[in-house]
Amino acid sequence: LWQNVPLAPPDSIFKLTAAYKADTYAKKVNLGVGAYRDDDNKPWVLPVVKKAEQIILNTPALDHEYLPITGLPEFTTAAANLILGSDSRAISETRVTSVQTISGTGANHLGALFLSRFYPWSGNKEIYLSDPTWANHQAIFKNVGITPVNYPYYDPKTIGLDFDGFLSSLKSAPAGSVFLLHACAHNPTGVDPTREQWSTIADAILEKGHYAFFDCAYQGFASGDLDNDAWAIRFFVDKGVNMLVCQSFAKNAGLYGERVGALHIISTSKEAAERVRSQLSVLQRSEISNPPTYGARIVTLILNDPALFDEWKRDIQTMAGRIINMRKQLFKLLTEELHTPGNWDHIVNQIGMFSFTGITPEQSKILTEKYHIYLTANGRISMCGLNSSTIGYFAESLDKVVRG
Ligand code: LMR
Repeated sequence: LWQNVPLAPPDSIFKLTAAYKADTYAKKVNLGVGAYRDDDNKPWVLPVVKKAEQIILNTPALDHEYLPITGLPEFTTAAANLILGSDSRAISETRVTSVQTISGTGANHLGALFLSRFYPWSGNKEIYLSDPTWANHQAIFKNVGITPVNYPYYDPKTIGLDFDGFLSSLKSAPAGSVFLLHACAHNPTGVDPTREQWSTIADAILEKGHYAFFDCAYQGFASGDLDNDAWAIRFFVDKGVNMLVCQSFAKNAGLYGERVGALHIISTSKEAAERVRSQLSVLQRSEISNPPTYGARIVTLILNDPALFDEWKRDIQTMAGRIINMRKQLFKLLTEELHTPGNWDHIVNQIGMFSFTGITPEQSKILTEKYHIYLTANGRISMCGLNSSTIGYFAESLDKVVRG
């Protein structure tokens, strides 16, 4: 048995973590997976999370019963307010269906599964994904029978947004197409549309009756401001775009392993939202029965207690601030000290956890093989892997590789 099962390649992102761990070179640097590290290259348990965990420990009445199928209600309500805004009309009109999911990946999966079953497809089941996108998106949609199609996004000539290409794809796609949009801190490029561009995108989507599938893995993590990073989502909801939102607390609460997230589907009526909820419950039940409790309890405490919420905002600023600082330092090293050939403005213009350096797959390979610096082949670097001890070595290695 299983003789004919094809051998699959290892995951393109997590294989880097394994290779980095196995490497014994003293100056090795891991710029692969998007997971925050402090300036000592250590995972950071947010102080506010530690406080929330203490509260949970000291609440003996808490048990280990099943959560409702759609999740902890205090969590899903607070999570919806966080991402859509507490003054959201869609929320006050009870048009939002919120379901707790296995972090952002689970939200993407449940959203994809729901669309696959219930979206009024006029032709083939297809989703338009930005070129490039997070490596896992392709697999998530293929798993539920939706074929990924690319839309132009990144322009290698400017190391920025190919806005004209993006727009013409929105205009030429068949009416009612589904477009996946990164709400902020685009993964892997770090290139986001401006507010003006978002507004043009929303108009094009409305004109063609497209569906917006928002993935938001970095609220607060991008700019340090939770509201600012949710701007595009709230703008689209206000404009009346048909849409859903995938939300993750992996990065902004540092709860990677706890798998805390939510799927929010915005409907045009309360009645439709109830129908959507009923079907999401059925899908969720057959897939995971009920979502996990622990991480949701932590986030619920943080979101619903004003003092903890303020502390969380400060923790987020600590993380976002360190990353922005690394961008500035790297830019300075490359441009003012090493005079590395090429334009490096994108290092400071890009936003969020990742920077798309613009180097070739061959150059990425040399960085890994010769300099023990681990990054994805597309030239994406996780800014979190840079710190006071590694940034100099990385800049010098990049400089050497670019000079060839
Ligand atoms: C990444 O892109 O590195 C992160 O989102 C982690 C993951 O799950 O791939």
